[in-house]
Amino acid sequence: MQIGEAAHQIVFLHPMSQTQAPTSVSSRKLYIESYGCAMNFSDSEIIASIMGEHGFTSTQDELDADVIFLNTCAIRDNAEQRIRERLKHLRMNKKRNNDLIIGVLGCMAERLKDKLLEEEKLVDVVAGPDSYRELPKLVAEVDEGGRAINVLLSREETYGDLNPVRLNTNGVTAFISIMRGCDNMCSFCVVPFTRGRERSRDPQSIVKEAVQLAEQGYKEITLLGQNVDSYLWFGGGAKKDFKKLTEEEQASSVDFADLLELCALAVPGMRIRYSTSHPRDITPKVIHTMAKYKNICNYIHLPAQSGNTRVLDIMSRNYSREWYMDKIEMIRGILPDCGISCDIIAGFCTETEEEHQDTLSLMEWSQFDFSYMYKYSERPGTPAAKKLVDDVPEEVKGRRLKEIIDLQNRMSTEKNQRYVGQIVDVLVEADSKRSDQDWMARNDQNIVVVFPKEQYKKGDFVQVKIERASTSTLVGVAVGYASL
Ligand code: 5AD
Ligand code: SF4
Repeated sequence: MQIGEAAHQIVFLHPMSQTQAPTSVSSRKLYIESYGCAMNFSDSEIIASIMGEHGFTSTQDELDADVIFLNTCAIRDNAEQRIRERLKHLRMNKKRNNDLIIGVLGCMAERLKDKLLEEEKLVDVVAGPDSYRELPKLVAEVDEGGRAINVLLSREETYGDLNPVRLNTNGVTAFISIMRGCDNMCSFCVVPFTRGRERSRDPQSIVKEAVQLAEQGYKEITLLGQNVDSYLWFGGGAKKDFKKLTEEEQASSVDFADLLELCALAVPGMRIRYSTSHPRDITPKVIHTMAKYKNICNYIHLPAQSGNTRVLDIMSRNYSREWYMDKIEMIRGILPDCGISCDIIAGFCTETEEEHQDTLSLMEWSQFDFSYMYKYSERPGTPAAKKLVDDVPEEVKGRRLKEIIDLQNRMSTEKNQRYVGQIVDVLVEADSKRSDQDWMARNDQNIVVVFPKEQYKKGDFVQVKIERASTSTLVGVAVGYASL
């Protein structure tokens, strides 16, 4: 999956869901915990909406819950191990409350299917990413004394008609899912198996959701998809190759650049971000659209995964080192000030020392603002697990990862120094982690900026003069309000 993985975070049903329960036949309480990428956090908001419509109210206390859902991630083995540990821990809650229902949802549910019911005896519900509309029914089946599973993948489901319940929200930034699934089949990746075929969501429903968020006072949206550059709407259904569309379909189709433009025009007072791009599919049209609208942030997450063409080839990424470099040049040619971040995998099957050096040199050449960096973790059933040997020893993977992280940290520290003495426009998101006297905000390029609160409020656009910079944070003082 290309969305940079967020740290494990716990989310709760927002009290809003209590008022959104038109057919409240019971007052059962639901507690949701989300793991993994932004897409999962966004899905939890869809789940909250579906359950809210069936009378489930929120609790922030797992001990108070009648139903606990873990919305899970399967991208690397350690993500799954963490969830297994959590399930073991939840056994205690089950002992305390015999009627407690525990559900495993999302990618790990889709990957392991009924094995989860057998392996983890305390799991009552297993639901894959395309079966969330069935959740109330699955819970009802458990009420009848059974266990319930639905892991059917769909070619059409986008949940486009639902009103996500904003969970754990700062009231300023929100995710909007624009597509589901992935057709890329990168050889290391489990996502095409757990999230199914790629399908795009109706642009009108996306714009409507953006406008609603603006009306509720939100100031920033992030359009989410595993590969946003292949977003294509031509009236519905699974993705098709543009060239295979009829003339009529082509004329009325909406691609990702068109969608960005629609959103930029519909919510001019909001910042727009998106994730994730694919080097194979990113187009100059997208970058020109970013340049045209001030409210589209100058920031692109463009995972390279490796800097070596042979490794990229066996990863089935469908581009070479030179192709990737051309894309970076294309972006910087149109948007010189664009922030660019990356995903890198260390120690993929058969990767040699020289090939690892190519990754380091690509990173240095590209000057990423930051990166998400991982050791390769073999996932059962993927093309890499079937056809390649995971032969880079664990300690070598670890050492290569460390070199990658050290380089990125050095580059980020150096790059952030360029802001010192400059005035940057930021959007205030929340209290700073270190002090409630300071705000945490982000600049256009997605870099965290911290400054004393003074008279400024959450959701304000502020100009901040930067005084010092570290690897991941700029620190400064406000000098006035900014305009978008
Ligand atoms: N091992 C390690 N990292 C992986 N990713 C995806 N699959 C694996 C795997 N099997 C990384 C990729 C992707 C990011 C979200 O997770 O870098 O872009
Ligand atoms: Fe991203 Fe490739 Fe996985 Fe698709 S298959 S989610 S593009 S890493």
